[in-house]
Amino acid sequence: MTLIRGQDIQEAARWLMNGQLVAFPTETVYGLGANARDEQAIEAVYRAKGRPGNHPVIVHVAAAQDVSAWAVGIDERARLLMEHFWPGPLTLILPKRAEVSARITGGQDTVAVRCPAHPTAQALLHAFAQLWGPGAGVIAPSANRFGQVSPTQADHVFDEFVDVPHTSMYLLEGEAAQVGIESTIVDLSNAQQWPRILRPGQIQAQELSQVLGSPVYDFMAMPSDSRPLEQSTEPRVSGSLKAHYAPQTPLFLFSRHELTQITSVQSLPKEQRIACVSCGPWQRAEGVPGAVPAAISSSVVHVEELPCDPQRYAQLLYATLRRLDKQGYDALWFEQPPAHASWAGVNDRLRRAAAAFS
Ligand code: TXA
Ligand code: MG
Repeated sequence: MTLIRGQDIQEAARWLMNGQLVAFPTETVYGLGANARDEQAIEAVYRAKGRPGNHPVIVHVAAAQDVSAWAVGIDERARLLMEHFWPGPLTLILPKRAEVSARITGGQDTVAVRCPAHPTAQALLHAFAQLWGPGAGVIAPSANRFGQVSPTQADHVFDEFVDVPHTSMYLLEGEAAQVGIESTIVDLSNAQQWPRILRPGQIQAQELSQVLGSPVYDFMAMPSDSRPLEQSTEPRVSGSLKAHYAPQTPLFLFSRHELTQITSVQSLPKEQRIACVSCGPWQRAEGVPGAVPAAISSSVVHVEELPCDPQRYAQLLYATLRRLDKQGYDALWFEQPPAHASWAGVNDRLRRAAAAFS
């Protein structure tokens, strides 16, 4: 493994030119980048991640005008969304140009494109476009091994890849990801259908439909048994696997009202060591059980709070999961955040992390 850490944008752009991998920060999570016109470099990303070949990746571009090098059918809806939300944490699914590699699209006739806002990502994409010329693009899945928690800091990427053999990468360091969960993915590939959210993120369905002046189909908000079959069988969105984003330590969700029951019903063995994470302060207003779990069960050896604000919670979620995962607990208990739409992105990630253990 050759893993070089640095802050040299030009050097990182040269690595991309040479067909090598560059991990870089975006405002959502760190990405593992490669030249999107280089089949071998794309292959190397899949290998480093241990990712199945049929999971498509996102092409990152420096500016909205570069999308036409990758996609066709850039209609009024796409233009409106790019104008309002780019650069930013929104990925668009559009019909692909014929020459876009099947390695990128997972063999589908659509391509995912995104223009990230993080200054380091912007600088890298511009520097690479200078070297490559017109039509430059960088594929970048999240810079984690397949199925693991996404990285929001350079140290997370280092931990993730330092032991992976036969991989070399330049780890471009920059300010930690501010959004903290992956971009919202909206499918615009069918002009006859409403836009569809395939992965919830910071930008919500309601904001998209306000800008578009039309409904946006929030497929993720539907109960899983009423989703169209096509969606539940195809691995179009890797985050759509039931279990994903999971730590190694078993993770469970609980509601505040269930807490006393959980601890007694499970009659936990004494030797269990459990970390418990609340959504908002443990001690709450009247009418809400405010018991600190440590007071209920001696198995709860660590208690902490995440903010009861969806954006601040998302910012801290992956770093919290990674930190707790290193502490050798037998289980992590996370309090279920509110079911409100503003929590859709966070709830989606927590549900999938917990699904790995149910
Ligand atoms: O915030 C993000 O989007 C981050 C940063 C690094 O930009 N990237 C990211 O990449 O999350 P990744 O590979 O971990 O997730 C990309 C998602 C996958 O779930 C993939 O299935 C979906 O995008 N995707 C890519 N191309 C697609 C397509 N043509 N149709 C449907 N889904 C697609
Ligand atoms: Mg990912």
